[in-house]
Amino acid sequence: MHPLIISNWKMNMSLNSAIDFCETIENAKLANIHDLIICPPAPYLALLSSKFPSLTFAAQNISSIAPYGAYTGEHNAAILKSCKVHYSLIGHSERRTLFGETDEIVAQKLRCSLEGEITPIICIGEPLEAKNTNQYSNFLQNQLDVILDIIAKHATSTQPSISDLIIAYEPIWAIGSGIIPTQNHLKESFDIIKSYIAKIDEIYEKSRVAKNIKLVYGGSVSLDNIKQILDAGADGCLIGKASLDCKNLIEILTVSY
Ligand code: PGA
Repeated sequence: MHPLIISNWKMNMSLNSAIDFCETIENAKLANIHDLIICPPAPYLALLSSKFPSLTFAAQNISSIAPYGAYTGEHNAAILKSCKVHYSLIGHSERRTLFGETDEIVAQKLRCSLEGEITPIICIGEPLEAKNTNQYSNFLQNQLDVILDIIAKHATSTQPSISDLIIAYEPIWAIGSGIIPTQNHLKESFDIIKSYIAKIDEIYEKSRVAKNIKLVYGGSVSLDNIKQILDAGADGCLIGKASLDCKNLIEILTVSY
């Protein structure tokens, strides 16, 4: 299995730059193009997904409200599906810290995404304080408990979105800082997350979904450190800044293949 690369553009790029970017990626004819998920700003999703059917796109956010209705500024799972988008980031730390998304809101978004058949890329990760006081494993376990609880309550054996679930471990202090965790820290955190992934199999009993669930790492991933992160046991990386330069992203895809 080749590493999954998720390119999170955040609030960057004009529409024209976004089209040029996707054209360059498509023309690069990379062998692992299907292992790339691009998260552009939401207004570009419908156009990019119909113009570039060979590429995979994800929303950076999804509504915590499932039905259509009078919810200005929101987009639900049905809207994403109608734009041919089948993935969404959920609970990115910037949503949690800058836009007040609590664990409860993240849980609702996860429920809406599972029920609406949008594959969640659910983000977790500890703040600096939890790292400095050596509390990060407790912090991660609390965030994972919330996720597991939702999965247990809303599990149905026919749910396609659960089998592709992606968990992104993104320590908040590593995002945009140029600093990544030590190999020990990475391994310890990955072990905790993998033990939760194994519990998802217990919920689904016979269907053995856990083998497809991916664990990716995000936070200051670059061309220089990606190998080291993958060696620590990640199935891929969620990349912000270093993925905004298309040529750099192509190099990252090439070295990680
Ligand atoms: P970064 O962002 O790669 O710029 O640190 C990662 C993220 O926030 O997803």
